Amino acid sequence: MDVKTVPTFKTAFENEVFQGLTAFPKFLSSKWFYDEQGDKLFQEIMKLPEYYPTRKEYAILEQLDVHAFEVDEEGFDLIELGAGDGFKTKVLLKKLREANIPFSYKPIDISQNALDGLSADLKNRFPKLDVEPLQGRYFTVLDELSKYSQRKKVILMLGSNLGNLPHPKAIEFLRQLGDTLNPQDLIFMGFDLKKDPAVILPAYNDSQGVTAAFNKNVLHRINRELKANFEVDHFRHVPLYDPETGTCKSFLMATQEMDVRIESLDLEVHFYKWETIHTEISQKYEHSVIKWLCSEAGLHPKTYFTDEEDYFADYILTKT
Ligand code: AVI
Repeated sequence: MDVKTVPTFKTAFENEVFQGLTAFPKFLSSKWFYDEQGDKLFQEIMKLPEYYPTRKEYAILEQLDVHAFEVDEEGFDLIELGAGDGFKTKVLLKKLREANIPFSYKPIDISQNALDGLSADLKNRFPKLDVEPLQGRYFTVLDELSKYSQRKKVILMLGSNLGNLPHPKAIEFLRQLGDTLNPQDLIFMGFDLKKDPAVILPAYNDSQGVTAAFNKNVLHRINRELKANFEVDHFRHVPLYDPETGTCKSFLMATQEMDVRIESLDLEVHFYKWETIHTEISQKYEHSVIKWLCSEAGLHPKTYFTDEEDYFADYILTKT
């Protein structure tokens, strides 16, 4: 029997790249897409005509009656996980201000840079808005927050980010999120729904090639940060959608046989022609699956809002 000894490395990125590229079949987690360039490419994706989730969720938020958050004159903390440039959030912030509901907006992000950009923009747009950016990992910050604030919380997670996790990991995430909730708190979360595959696939294979660049960016990142020599042009972006499971999978596929050297890992990686690296899943949901995920995580799907074509849904989840 061949026993693989796994060396230990300094960073999680080094560890995971080693694990993923020495496995068969090869894989890399999509969480490594989001360096500075990856963030920029994702912002571009959200503006593409084929990428319907942003447009559809924007439409839902425009129609939303913010009283659905069930807040009183005591006010609440609106805590956002992964706000990005806040394009969709601004619709909500505007509505809450117009409804004279007292609240403070607390975006959480791992990137201080992203938080600084968002805060500066919000200062311009809503000078009187109480904004408290919180830098760090979601659960670390949420735990800290519940120690010093007893106010009602509405946790916002827009954009179907949960869909980048396979079901067991999604349940674990929801459960951890639920652990930070008090009985009056709620989660407002986006889910991309199952629909015609002819709509889904182009959203992950746009005609301008932005999604392809987004996927391939992880190879540029490995080249730069781990001193590797990937010939990025020898890989093709390949997305596939399985209508039975609702999983859209993205791969990077080698178009020729090659060897790659990753200096920081002291590793040679061989690719045969047409070999793949699985880089992302983007899960599309049925309502029954959302209900199941919630019940596994000890959460109650109270209600949901959808767009005219039922492409996307924003759910209100509470603790059971
Ligand atoms: C962030 N996430 C919800 C996006 C998605 O749709 O899975 C990331 C993305 N990947 C390719 N296009 C967009």
